[in-house]
Amino acid sequence: MSKTAELIIDGKSYVFPLVVGSENEVAVDISQLMEKTGAVTLDLGFKNTGSTKSAITFLDGDKGILRYRGYSIEDLAEKSNFIEVAYLLIFGELPTQEQYIKFSDDIRTHTLVHEDIKKMLDGFPSTAHPMGVLASLFCSQTAFYPESLDPNRANNAVYLSIIRSLAKMPTFAAWAYKNAAGHPVNYPDNKLEFTARFLKMTFALPGQDYEVDPVITEALDKLLILHADHEQNCSTSTVRIVGSSKASIYSSISAGVNALWGPLHGGANQEVIVMLENIKNDGGDTEKWINKAKDKNSGFRLMGFGHRVYKNFDPRAKIIKKAADDVLKKLGVNDPVLEIALKLEEAALKDPYFVERKLYPNVDFYSGIIYRALGIPVEMFTVMFAMGRLPGWIAQWMEMRENKEPIGRPRQIYTGATLRPYKAIGSR
Ligand code: SDX
Repeated sequence: MSKTAELIIDGKSYVFPLVVGSENEVAVDISQLMEKTGAVTLDLGFKNTGSTKSAITFLDGDKGILRYRGYSIEDLAEKSNFIEVAYLLIFGELPTQEQYIKFSDDIRTHTLVHEDIKKMLDGFPSTAHPMGVLASLFCSQTAFYPESLDPNRANNAVYLSIIRSLAKMPTFAAWAYKNAAGHPVNYPDNKLEFTARFLKMTFALPGQDYEVDPVITEALDKLLILHADHEQNCSTSTVRIVGSSKASIYSSISAGVNALWGPLHGGANQEVIVMLENIKNDGGDTEKWINKAKDKNSGFRLMGFGHRVYKNFDPRAKIIKKAADDVLKKLGVNDPVLEIALKLEEAALKDPYFVERKLYPNVDFYSGIIYRALGIPVEMFTVMFAMGRLPGWIAQWMEMRENKEPIGRPRQIYTGATLRPYKAIGSR
């Protein structure tokens, strides 16, 4: 393959270098484009634009491949656990037994949050969406750990921020749930491991024993692994661009939580269940809703379907679909919306509209069915996504910082009014 790309503008030829990645992906390096040609590129939604070079996660949209630091998502979901995957994403290698124990214990010792954060929580009405509470509480760490605002901190100080982020996110998530439920909060039981600790903090009720069900813990741990990173998606790009201004890790990740909240992104897992319930309550006529999704004027999309990168299948959806079946059987849960989801997938994958547009179930299509079977309420689904995605956000923020990337500042093509003299219109 040639090492360069040629661009001809107004008959003049410009040559730009090609960048080839470790998986033979090819990019045209246009960092000199404006200087050489005076032109910029235009790519709404950055569908064809690479924002960085990254060694963290590899996706192949045609082959349905997802790897974290070279390890396949299938292997990690089957054989690893969330804390080990978090370590892999953030530090680049699987931890030794000693490193794993230290990392896990460091997280364990930082699960408590300052009591003043509970006062902030009390200020939220129980109607507040848990994602808004989560973003606020997570960002409030900038007030309690002001050293995190120093962009030139030594790496060991950043390590403490990483640990605090991983340790306190589940506490914030559990407290956001308790606030919505109108229940008193629980404090973390540090005798338990990460996922079990979160479940007990979230679901234990005053005066009642709470036995952590290993089936639920294992299923949730697998879901957290599957959500842990996904290269330059909307929320991760948000974390990187906010961090590129040298904003703290806490404010950068809080921005990522807000980006994830959108229904076209992480908020889709909540919308999928709402959609499936609507279809069930409407009599379960999947053909009718498939036709609505095809009708541009309906404003309805098949939530949990389609993906910017995967144009064959989302490998996470495959794993989650199987896990949904297993978990519901193990828990003896019969959820009618699972049948509707299976019918919807089968019908859509035969329909030319979806086939032509390469629309397949994505990570959000089946995840809500498992969350519901685990007893997690629908308004907490995206919070679970944020908890899972946290190690990826941290890893990507660290990589951007270690690579000393410039502040993100895209250009534009102006289409507004050209120069015009000021003339007062109304009376002044
Ligand atoms: C996540 O990027 C990531 O990696 C994200 C994520 C991660 O791990 O971080 O994987 C997590 O966000 C998964 C996606 C969750 N969102 C949804 O399930 C919402 C429903 N899906 C879509 O809105 C859509 O498919 C997106 C947002 C996922 C992708 O949008 P794109 O790439 O911008 O594609 P598009 O909107 O331009 O759609 C292309 C065509 C359009 O039709 P035409 O104009 O070509 O005729 O496909 C149609 C769209 O109308 N289309 C759909 C559809 N998704 C796309 N039509 C009906 N139902 C859908 N779900």
